[in-house]
Amino acid sequence: MPRIIMGIESSCDETGVGLVRLHDDDTVELLADEVASSVDQHARFGGVVPEVASRAHLEAMVPTVERAFDKAGLKLSDVDAIAVTAGPGLAGALLVGVAAAKAYAAALDIPLYGVNHLAGHIAVDTLQHGPLPERCLALLVSGGHTQLLLVDDIASEITELGSTVDDAAGEAYDKVARVLGLPYPGGPPIDKAAKNGDGAAIAFPRGMTGPRDAKFDFSFSGLKTAVARWVESAERRGEDIPVDDVAASFQEAVADVLTMKAIRAAKEHGVDTLVISGGVAANSRLSELAAERCAEAGITLRVPRPRLCTDNGAMIAALGAHVVAAGRPRASLDFSANPALPV
Ligand code: KG4
Ligand code: ZN
Repeated sequence: MPRIIMGIESSCDETGVGLVRLHDDDTVELLADEVASSVDQHARFGGVVPEVASRAHLEAMVPTVERAFDKAGLKLSDVDAIAVTAGPGLAGALLVGVAAAKAYAAALDIPLYGVNHLAGHIAVDTLQHGPLPERCLALLVSGGHTQLLLVDDIASEITELGSTVDDAAGEAYDKVARVLGLPYPGGPPIDKAAKNGDGAAIAFPRGMTGPRDAKFDFSFSGLKTAVARWVESAERRGEDIPVDDVAASFQEAVADVLTMKAIRAAKEHGVDTLVISGGVAANSRLSELAAERCAEAGITLRVPRPRLCTDNGAMIAALGAHVVAAGRPRASLDFSANPALPV
């Protein structure tokens, strides 16, 4: 069975290359995790520009692979299998990773696995906290995704219970940051400002929490608009914007809805472990409130460290290792990237 697995990630603005070792007891050890980000090139546009991201992946791919091998003290010929993000993500960006992975797999004559980016965000937690229980719930919150997933088998059986009907949670952070004059990406500066603010100062709406709303879906565009309206009307009155209070109140609304629905889903499906991953999982209030509510409900909370939560190659290598361990057949080299790949 392949033992050293390389993971390649290029679905958005991070070129990630990870190397892991699959042990006989199916535990997975992290050997290297190198990321080159084009986030600075997108900052002035306030969001990821697909063409810019694709070009950056092209330039960063080979040097990032080389750095990962240097860090791990391995040679290319040590790799036994490759996993690559096949989707979902930006078409042009995905293609760069898939083409690189095929080239390495063909040159080294080793198996290649096209894997799902969303499953990777969950699989990465096994690098820090060990194997997942037989069944768990995952809350995936990033710039591109907001999903509640029921995980029966990380390598093959994931069911989507709900997702955002409009903006992703991270996208809402980025848009609200812009309204408040904070830099992109908006999560970290809002998190920081919120520490000095009062989360109960302004009662922003909690989207899709009404009795007729889908139980496990999310909506953040109304919240984003409510923040923008609030700021506009304060400006019209000539008042100073209490940035810290607005940030804290917005953050409270996001954390409240995310944790409320995650706990409800865990209870309804009889699951006692919740994994929160994706860039927004780095949010301090989200992890605090999730810890509080999980403790109350008797649910074990697992949140990978921030570096593992954001896009990286280690998550794809980790998922690759679980796919290999599950004995899934290798992909032929003619598979294609799928920007809309479902879980
Ligand atoms: O997972 P990720 O790196 O990339 C995507 O796949 O989207 O997530 C990036 C998102 C951005 O929207 C960023 O604003 C958000 O994660 N983010 C945060 C924090 N750190 C990053 N959101 C809230 N609080 C944070 N501390
Ligand atoms: Zn992601």
